[in-house]
Amino acid sequence: MPALVLLGAQWGDEGKGKATDLLGGSVDYVVRYQGGNNAGHTVVVGDQKYALHLLPSGILSPTCVPVIGNGVVVDPSVLLSELSGLNERGVDTSKLLISGNAHIITPYNVTVDKVTERFLGKRKIGTTGRGIGPTYADKINRVGIRVQDLYDESILTQKVEAALDVKNQILSKLYNRRAIGVDQVVEELLGYAAQIEPYVADTVLVLNQALEDDKVVLFEGGQGTLLDIDHGTYPFVTSSNPTAGGACTGAGVGPTKISRVIGILKAYTTRVGAGPFPTELFDADGEALRRIGGERGVTTGRDRRCGWFDAVIARYATRVNGLTDFFLTKLDVLTGWEQIPVCVAYEIDGKRVEELPYSQTDFHHAKPVYENLPGWSEDITKAKSFADLPKNAQNYVKALEEMSGAPISAIGVGPGRDETIEINSFL
Ligand code: IMP
Repeated sequence: MPALVLLGAQWGDEGKGKATDLLGGSVDYVVRYQGGNNAGHTVVVGDQKYALHLLPSGILSPTCVPVIGNGVVVDPSVLLSELSGLNERGVDTSKLLISGNAHIITPYNVTVDKVTERFLGKRKIGTTGRGIGPTYADKINRVGIRVQDLYDESILTQKVEAALDVKNQILSKLYNRRAIGVDQVVEELLGYAAQIEPYVADTVLVLNQALEDDKVVLFEGGQGTLLDIDHGTYPFVTSSNPTAGGACTGAGVGPTKISRVIGILKAYTTRVGAGPFPTELFDADGEALRRIGGERGVTTGRDRRCGWFDAVIARYATRVNGLTDFFLTKLDVLTGWEQIPVCVAYEIDGKRVEELPYSQTDFHHAKPVYENLPGWSEDITKAKSFADLPKNAQNYVKALEEMSGAPISAIGVGPGRDETIEINSFL
């Protein structure tokens, strides 16, 4: 029962699509277990490039069953437009399965996301504005709408009423917005029901049976470890659990079933949105990383904040996820620097600290302690094996591996599908 979890080891956008590519045809199921259309990954198949936000990357493989697990939040209009966009390009999407327990991002959740961010002003989180946080808030408050509710009009109406009861007071009295009509929301949601129905399934049963039948199941995390609601840089986080445990709750699979947890690690660091980021660069090096690495968000089009590699964060990701492997991406972006600084520890209020501090105040005060590693100038994009890399690039990878606490089993050396060095097989 090979069940692999693939997740971001930093603040997201580490290049997960590449790792999914490497596993390619050998995966039978690809499961999203948290988040929604706040994620964004680009998958290249042949000469075609696809930007996916909600759908699991497995949707592009004809042999794979893509699954949206119970832990995901689903915007039905985005779901249907991603599906029809793929259908127009000849992709068969009929195998998709969606958990009936997944929560729906309603139009009022999107409104609340936008108005609360505006209201927060300088203190805003920098969310993607897709309604993710308010939908998870409704889930926890037990006023959420689930996919299965689309198939019982009376229940749906009662639930929308309950959700809007308080929200309309807040929207109109606090935010000075017009109240949202129950009927209008119910009508919109019912309009999606028939188109979504063929995909709705008991995904927990399907996935556990698949594992019993020795199928390969890949759990695909959105966002990244440091954006986890419990283990990330709270409150500058997303509202779900991208960390490995989230795969269990968000898909209904027990922890004993997970055989491998692969952390995707960029050879430097990026972050979108607000929040602390100790190795962030505000100089020409940061600009160069952004330009060479193409660091612009797939979902929001925002420039990503860029900085040097942070080994403290990588070690933390190894610990909270129980990582068995790393996939190091974008090593080629670092080609051309004479010296590459790597953050090996922090200095917090004059003291050297080796591990991520649990206190938010301390983390906000953390200053990176850098070690300079010698760079390389040779083009590495044609490297097929570790031995093909220049000595200094090899040493950079080995140093990162040693500091991060799990083996680096694959290295991305260019944007193309085949520009990957495989060191240990993931299967
Ligand atoms: P939300 O997920 O839209 O609520 O946004 C919360 C935080 O997570 C913001 O800082 C976003 O920029 C960040 N975020 C959400 N999704 C992603 C992602 O896929 N990659 C990187 N950052 C993300």
